[in-house]
Amino acid sequence: ILDRVELAPADPILGLTEAFKADDRTNKVNLGVGVYLGEDGKLPLMDAVRIAEERLAGQARPHGYLGIDGLPSYNQATRALVFGAESEAVASGRITTVQTLGGTGALKVAADFLRTIDADAKVLISSPSWENHRALFTRAGFTVEEYRYYAPEARGIDFDGMLEDLEAAAAGTIVVLHACCHNPTGYDLAPEQWDQVIRTISERGLVALVDMAYQGFGFGIEEDGAVIGKFVDAGLEFFVTTSFSKSFSLYGERIGALHVVSPDADTARKVLSQVKICIRTNYSNPATQGAALVDIILGDAELRANWEAELGGMRERIKSLRSRLVQGLQEHGVDDMGFIREQLGMFSYSGLTKDQMVALRNEHAVYGTDKGRMCVAALNSNNVDHVARAIAAVR
Ligand code: LMR
Repeated sequence: ILDRVELAPADPILGLTEAFKADDRTNKVNLGVGVYLGEDGKLPLMDAVRIAEERLAGQARPHGYLGIDGLPSYNQATRALVFGAESEAVASGRITTVQTLGGTGALKVAADFLRTIDADAKVLISSPSWENHRALFTRAGFTVEEYRYYAPEARGIDFDGMLEDLEAAAAGTIVVLHACCHNPTGYDLAPEQWDQVIRTISERGLVALVDMAYQGFGFGIEEDGAVIGKFVDAGLEFFVTTSFSKSFSLYGERIGALHVVSPDADTARKVLSQVKICIRTNYSNPATQGAALVDIILGDAELRANWEAELGGMRERIKSLRSRLVQGLQEHGVDDMGFIREQLGMFSYSGLTKDQMVALRNEHAVYGTDKGRMCVAALNSNNVDHVARAIAAVR
């Protein structure tokens, strides 16, 4: 049967890392994948993570299975992080939380579960969206379409277009939204715009799935998470997928969570029973280490403060990298890319064409996605000038 297999294209994001690793030029820069690197160009081990790791190492334990839904104290702590410990929805037990294999694992479990409830629903993702959103929901069996989001001429959000598309969607349509630090554009809805989007979702009977992979990279943990409270306040049933890859720099631990908000605790129990089947038939149960680390940090006031402070430092450093890139571009004669400063999160949606991105890669060893997305969180004082010069050269 294997003679029927065709060669698939490389992944649009992770495929770049593969190509980058195989590139032997010494001045190469990987702005492809969304990974934060320190000033030394290396992946940071956050201080709180290091301390938690030392604590764990000091109490070496056997490696048993976690429950299908993960580590209970981790689920509780992440639920409080996302919804606020005081949230009525948390207190009333109507949120189902399961530990997942990163944000992607959360999305896949959500997609499989949603398929069991409404196999005919359409999925709407933003235009553009994270490349894997379309692929993942399509693979799960859904028809995926887009709602308008980014307006290239305005370098911002086509909010009227977005609302129009949501208003035109059939009841039951699943709408994938980015809580903060929109991937790939870096343009987020303002709070009043969220209110309108939530009103439309409620009036039209749409199903919101809020993907929050970058909590803390916009304005702060609480600030970025505030949008979730708006969905709760609107009395909606909705889904939240979260990732700790970026905010704890725990990429390889594959640690995230799926939260499903039901109208009452009884429904939440039924949801949990079904979500557990989706997990069991995918990967049985999640891994232990990432959950143990996040659980230790979120459960210890001092470590948590330490973590939030370091995350704040990363956020501020990315902002300064944006400024340095814009300044570097100006020095090389490019003075119409100041918008890079206004974008939020790890990415800059540069407006460069596919040809320009390919030239950046081939001629200058600067890797970004074909759609023009660059991870500014991988810049540092040693590579920013090379990147600015390369962008100037391909424009
Ligand atoms: C990205 O968008 O680069 C990250 O979310 C990593 C990934 O899995 O694509």
